[in-house]
Amino acid sequence: MESAGFWRLLGGMRQVVLGGETDWAGWRTATRALVLAGVGPGDVEWVVGGVPDALPEVAGSFNVPRALVGLAGLAIQAREPVRFGLLYRLVWRAHRGEVVLDDPDMALAGRLAHAVRAEAHRMRTHMRFMALGDGFLGWYAPAHFVLEANAQLIVRRFPAWPLTIVTSDGSAHWDGGRLWFGAGLAQACDDETLRAWWEAHADAILADARDGTSVPEAEDLDEAPRPPDRPALGPVVFPVASDPALADARLQAAGCERCDLCDAATQTVFGEGPADADVMFVGEQPGDQEDMIGRPFVGPAGQLLDRALEEAGIDRRAIYITNAVKHFKFTLRGKRRIHVSPSPEEIAACGFWLETERGRVRPKLVVLMGGSAARGVLGRAVAVTRERGQAIMLADGQVVFVTVHPSYLLRVPEGEAQLREYRAFVRDLVAVRGLLGV
Ligand code: URA
Repeated sequence: MESAGFWRLLGGMRQVVLGGETDWAGWRTATRALVLAGVGPGDVEWVVGGVPDALPEVAGSFNVPRALVGLAGLAIQAREPVRFGLLYRLVWRAHRGEVVLDDPDMALAGRLAHAVRAEAHRMRTHMRFMALGDGFLGWYAPAHFVLEANAQLIVRRFPAWPLTIVTSDGSAHWDGGRLWFGAGLAQACDDETLRAWWEAHADAILADARDGTSVPEAEDLDEAPRPPDRPALGPVVFPVASDPALADARLQAAGCERCDLCDAATQTVFGEGPADADVMFVGEQPGDQEDMIGRPFVGPAGQLLDRALEEAGIDRRAIYITNAVKHFKFTLRGKRRIHVSPSPEEIAACGFWLETERGRVRPKLVVLMGGSAARGVLGRAVAVTRERGQAIMLADGQVVFVTVHPSYLLRVPEGEAQLREYRAFVRDLVAVRGLLGV
């Protein structure tokens, strides 16, 4: 039975009103009712916009191939006006027993689904965020309507921090427990425009939070296990170096193509901290979270480092911190981006930036955390366990100190051994403080 308003009769055509561009539930319900009511694809018009009225009760059921349902769930996110009708036609024909898995309609739906999947991946890996209070704000112009289906995956990377994703189609907001959606920002924008947009809309957005849905416990996307008592320090935003030459180098490095790592990484992650810091800490390369956020040592290894620095009495705000390689190198395992160590050639190619940073900051001491950092500065393979804890004077008079990388501590099996290694790392940092004379 048709109920008034579910679809409008327009000169013999049924006009179905969907609630939005990705109204999957509305499309499914309407499709089921239309097929059962025997309404052929040529008699249906699909429009977006407006609140769909109460849906009719239509008795009966039917099955469509599972592959077709999965495909439709993706293809419906395509920015392609004919998709609703195309997908309805496929379901209608499948219901009538036609073989649809190998024909032009199916091929078109397959191309749309493929494009959506590719865009979803691009959004998840290429979105940039800027710090905003104790959270993050990012803007992206998706080629397809992929925000809603992917927002959960994106916020799972930052489960503990408030995060807002603004797109030309809408926005998604995460407050650390709930995810909700709101209006978007149509035009392409720079950081200032985005920040102004947030300031103008924040109160209304936060008031909408009560309608949000909670997201299940996040899986840890990092390879390394958490230490048993990992602190919830979260990211702290530091001023970047105020030296103009360093600021210029940071800008130049943003477009760096000295090796191929820039192709897959989200962005260059340059060093940060005061330009007149007494001590510079060097790691290997940004990890998954650093790549997304654009700042060094903010993920699990960074949090462990923060804690060890604090125990050793070193203020992270006073150090300059950077990496031997400025782009994240990874391999994909399913949806996970798994860290891959940079090659000696990649470390050498990126040495230009590390040298620039060393040359501008001219710290009293450079702390090399792990083999890649040591290679980046010393230009040779270094056996970290053998050379650890020694102050080495370089030809240019700069003093360096080798220690382990905090990620190593995360890989040591939990328990006694992990605690022992952590304590040894803190002792190294206390020695660093001693060398600085503070
Ligand atoms: N590991 C590093 O070496 N650097 C980072 O910035 C994060 C993890």
